[in-house]
Amino acid sequence: MCGIVGYLGEREAYPVLLKGLKRLEYRGYDSAGMALLNPRGELSIYKTKGKVAGLESFVNGQDMSGSNGIAHTRWATHGEPCTENAHPHASPSGRLALVHNGIIENYATLKNKLQAKGYAFRSSTDTEVLVYLIEYIQQKEHTDLLTAVQLALRVVVGAYAIAVIDREHPDMIVAARKSSPLVVGIGEEEFFLASDATPLVEYTKKMVYLKDEEVAVLQRGKELRIVDLHNIQTTPEIQEVEMDLTQLEKGGFPHFMLKEIFDQPDCISDCMRGRIQPAEMRVFLSAVEEHKERLLQARRYVIIACGTSWHAALIGKQLIEHFCRIPVEVAYASEFRYAEPVIGAEDVVIAISQSGETADTLAAVEQAKRQGAFIYGICNNVGSSIARATHTGSYIHVGPEVGVASTKAFTGQVTVLTLLALTLSREKKTMDDQLFEKIIRELSLIPGKMKQLLTLNESIAALAPIFTYARNFIYLGRGYSYPVALEGALKLKEISYIHAEGYPAAEMKHGPIALIDAEMPVVVIAVRDGLYEKVLSNIQEIKARQGKIIALVTEGDTEVTRLADYCITLPPTLECLEPLIASIPLQLLAYHIAVCKGKNVDQPRNLAKSVTVE
Ligand code: F6R
Repeated sequence: MCGIVGYLGEREAYPVLLKGLKRLEYRGYDSAGMALLNPRGELSIYKTKGKVAGLESFVNGQDMSGSNGIAHTRWATHGEPCTENAHPHASPSGRLALVHNGIIENYATLKNKLQAKGYAFRSSTDTEVLVYLIEYIQQKEHTDLLTAVQLALRVVVGAYAIAVIDREHPDMIVAARKSSPLVVGIGEEEFFLASDATPLVEYTKKMVYLKDEEVAVLQRGKELRIVDLHNIQTTPEIQEVEMDLTQLEKGGFPHFMLKEIFDQPDCISDCMRGRIQPAEMRVFLSAVEEHKERLLQARRYVIIACGTSWHAALIGKQLIEHFCRIPVEVAYASEFRYAEPVIGAEDVVIAISQSGETADTLAAVEQAKRQGAFIYGICNNVGSSIARATHTGSYIHVGPEVGVASTKAFTGQVTVLTLLALTLSREKKTMDDQLFEKIIRELSLIPGKMKQLLTLNESIAALAPIFTYARNFIYLGRGYSYPVALEGALKLKEISYIHAEGYPAAEMKHGPIALIDAEMPVVVIAVRDGLYEKVLSNIQEIKARQGKIIALVTEGDTEVTRLADYCITLPPTLECLEPLIASIPLQLLAYHIAVCKGKNVDQPRNLAKSVTVE
């Protein structure tokens, strides 16, 4: 959570920082702020509660000159969202300004010590303690900025990505990271800095992803210098990052979420490109090719993830177990890391994360690695912390996901899991050729079927106003459709703030059926699969209690259609690929209900795109 941007060079920093903050706003939008060193040697800080647009109006008409600056968009952890708690934070004398993403876990101890020395704090954040500490060390030890930052970080416990500027050193930014991401962009005679590469790609392709406990010294007229907390220098590893800028814009859609829902046919084609060759009936994943033995010898697989990625994991479990007969467990990363997991060298752990920065998933990966497991990452963000922490993996290649509610990343994750299960089944010889060919052929038709589904947008938009009254929703599915029901419910609750629960349809009668009355909308995934008849009975049970049924049915369906109040008709597909189809109308339903309720779908309250805190 929280986004950091920095600029040092010949241009005016303000427009670069402002644009960068807008790109990073998905990481949090409780407050925004900026610090600039102007040509007169003054350090000015501007900050406001709320979104980046609020900061932009606040500074309108003010002198924003300066070619060295840092900026921040916040997702509050310590201290309520308000202007005092917004970053950048200034040091007591006003000489330093600092932005931070992460949590300083021992901030209370450090704060007490500094208070005992007479310091008075202005905010209730953990970050302010760090900038005070750096200035205290500068004064006490008569050190330069770099040394003071290194010494301060040596006593800090927790996670940080920071950038600091100093009025006394106007040609320098010092930045550092531990467990929170930070990227330096290297331009011609200029440096950029950000929490991810998206604010940097329009200026440079040359990126350096900082590693844990590395400190970057950005100095005008000098090469980038990377040192550790003990001042041991390393050579920066420069990577070339390619990113299509149009993917970062809304492209004519009113919201990123809708754009990303509509992106899915292309994203899934991109995700499969070069990996499936229907003509040769071949699926190829380089990670499987390179680590075949390790993957095939595994005693079992454990998939760890959070949120939407965890729902993809539940589908992955079914795919791998059905196709490969390998036992698979699925764990919430946040539970796994503290559960003393029984895991070892015989196990393969698959970590799924869109952002590649989720703190719990990263910690779970490290835990499993320490215990000897082989780690396979399924990430979207190239070069992200989880992607780098794993032994191997496959990117989902769906492009940057900006809307806070995950959509195309989910279908991308399910696609990669399908490819992984197919590749492994080939190696293990657990699937007959006919079925393998049938699945590959159908998989290659999925982007076209997704396009067909997206033509339902208008009719789903027309359905949405009927349900804005609802305070609760139930989503039901079985087999492969059960995780889709969970995901549909999550989408609705996170952007419309309507309480929604997903259940395996047959579980209804064990309790939740008590909730059904004429007010209760029940979304049932009732596609033509092996469990169709069973779901039909569940629908009868809901109908008997006057529940309002919105059913997802397969083309040609008559039985469910007769019973349901509203139907959304899906093109037929194979049962194992149904999640790729059925999830799209549920994304659209959640989107349109939230829009009808006037909610901010791209930036729902209390949420952030990248959860880099526990
Ligand atoms: C929901 C959503 C979250 C994320 C979760 C994990 O729409 O986006 O539930 O799925 O925070 O994030 P990643 O996949 O980045 O690890």
